[in-house]
Amino acid sequence: MTSFEQHFEDKINNEVNIEPRDWMPDDYRKTNIRQISQHAHSEIVGMLPEGNWITRAPSLRRKAILLAKVQDEAGHGLYLYSAAETLGITRDEMIEQLHTGKAKYSSIFNYPTTSWADMGAIGWLVDGAAIMNQVALCRTSYGPYARAMVRICKEESFHQRQGFEILLSLVRGNATQKKMAQDALNRWWWPSLMMFGPNDDNSPHSAQSLHWRIKRFSNDELRQKFVDAATEQAKVLGLAIPDPALKWNEERGHYDFGEIDWEEFWNVVKGNGPCNKERLDTRRKAWEDGEWVREAAMAYVEKRKNRSQKAA
Ligand code: 3HC
Repeated sequence: MTSFEQHFEDKINNEVNIEPRDWMPDDYRKTNIRQISQHAHSEIVGMLPEGNWITRAPSLRRKAILLAKVQDEAGHGLYLYSAAETLGITRDEMIEQLHTGKAKYSSIFNYPTTSWADMGAIGWLVDGAAIMNQVALCRTSYGPYARAMVRICKEESFHQRQGFEILLSLVRGNATQKKMAQDALNRWWWPSLMMFGPNDDNSPHSAQSLHWRIKRFSNDELRQKFVDAATEQAKVLGLAIPDPALKWNEERGHYDFGEIDWEEFWNVVKGNGPCNKERLDTRRKAWEDGEWVREAAMAYVEKRKNRSQKAA
């Protein structure tokens, strides 16, 4: 081991963050770029299923909340793209990787939002699953990523609560509204469990990422924590989780749950989910339509640069 490598390992073992100018192994850099950029892509693609409901929110209050939430996700994308840029990749390169299908984003956003209750289920389950993962990422070893996650988690926590509150209102409403809430839970439960990624023994990156403390918990550990928490929350809502195998295991001190449909998961990850094409087409179109904004912004930057050069 070289002295650089030893110094790096010592920092990791002593819980000292790795910062952009520090020496780091090439694979550590690549793993962080991969994970942070995929995370950033998930935030901005994640705006689409909910953005679809802003004009159809049932009240002004709900509309204002949903608008704020969707805008927060754009902000999360920006913090995360900025964190990834400190590792030597440009924003344009990352966007290109998303648009060409080279970079992944979370499988969950390839499912359609077919009723208002889905806004509740996404907030409660999808943001809930995201927080379970992201609270741990506040202590990830790469400094800029860890710091970005602190603020993101605060906002995700509001997102989770607003989703739970939407469902709470629906279950306290009439029979049709309660049915809408149950239907949304039925459709979003299993895709939410898939957000944590493949089982530990099928997760090629986990061992190294845990060693480098990029990940603090394994995929299965986080999934179990989520199932334990969400099952209790479902009881408060009076909704039934669509899993006949879900059962408290006294010995383990956790809920046992059924097998995820891994074929469906990999199909969606590979681009064949119900909305993959639509999501990527929408992102590409937004990029093309926004070209004039980027050009105008860059022209302004150039103009200011020229002015300050003349003044100097
Ligand atoms: N969807 C799409 N791809 C997934 C996936 C999922 N749910 N789970 C795993 N994968 C991919 C991995 O990216 C990896 O692909 P790659 O080799 O091409 O990069 C492959 O499947 C193998 O999985 P691993 O378990 O080995 O990969 P990781 O060690 O990276 O673990 C992860 C996967 C747990 C998702 C991890 O990357 C992670 O914690 N990422 C940061 C959090 C994140 O991205 N969250 C997105 C959720 S949505 C969100 O945050 C938006 C919010 O507003 C709701």
